Amino acid sequence: MERGNVMSNATGATTAGFRRGESRFARRLAPYSAAGLEIIPAEAPLGAEVRGIDLAKEDPGDEAVEAMRAAWAEHLVLLWRDQTLTPERQVEVARLFGEPEDMSRVGTDEAGLPKEIIEIENDPAKNASAGASDRYAHGLKYHELNWHSDNSYRELPPDGSLFYVREAPAEGGATNFCNMYLACDDLPADLLAKVRGRVARHDTSHNSANVLRKGFRKPRDASEGIGPEHPIVRLHPVSGRRALYLGRRPYCYIPGYALAESEAILDRLWAHATDQRYAWRRRPNRPGDLILWDNRCTMHMREPFDPRQRRLAHRVQLLGAKPIMG
Ligand SMILES: [Fe+2]
Repeated sequence: MERGNVMSNATGATTAGFRRGESRFARRLAPYSAAGLEIIPAEAPLGAEVRGIDLAKEDPGDEAVEAMRAAWAEHLVLLWRDQTLTPERQVEVARLFGEPEDMSRVGTDEAGLPKEIIEIENDPAKNASAGASDRYAHGLKYHELNWHSDNSYRELPPDGSLFYVREAPAEGGATNFCNMYLACDDLPADLLAKVRGRVARHDTSHNSANVLRKGFRKPRDASEGIGPEHPIVRLHPVSGRRALYLGRRPYCYIPGYALAESEAILDRLWAHATDQRYAWRRRPNRPGDLILWDNRCTMHMREPFDPRQRRLAHRVQLLGAKPIMG
């Protein structure tokens, strides 16, 4: 099983009114069985591999579906290896965990894929030619991807994403995750006092690779950005647990503070939340990996890889709701 950073600070102590390591939120760390499946928790603060199921089959059965949903709630990120899914089947699998979003607005249907699939591709041949489609030209390709949660620049950010690896570079490009429940539990008291009950404005003008979106103008500074406001501490509607919700760092702003203070608070929040002790740093993705993450209580980042290497993945997003103040 993949190894990561073993959580070193899960004690029963309380910090700033949040209780850490509460038994009702306990996450099992040893492998266990559920509905005929093997659940292998990552040696990290989040994540588990699910073994013993071929998701290409039509019906996993109610018990297996319930077991996988429970494992998702417990471990926040699930990984299935060596899966063989058509794009249509990936959408059906996503439907076991939520409602797949229609993503045709980002032009994915040009590729002849179901409207729920977002294609994430790096193709050295297309990068070298001027003839790539508009959709490809505005895609993420090999750009650096820092820690983020998906689509926080929307009023209704997705609850989760189901990411299927079709082609992967031999080295690099791993998708890593961090646990935002734990980052929230551990917030220093003075920092919590500055952000509790407040919202942050999530910039819409740039994409996850910090590239200015088509049709947008670059804000002069973060206080002039545009985008939805979401609670900085959010309540997860399923677990009832509080998580830090940061979205993306560039051009984020906390209304009610002067720009310099907002920047200082956000810098502290980000340094805290992306500390190694909350992260599952994974090995490089392999073709056939299927990864489900909860966008409400985790962030993810992609490690760099050689732009001359091909990479192809398909992502389905699960429809979300307005984040709840925590
Ligand atoms: Fe992402």
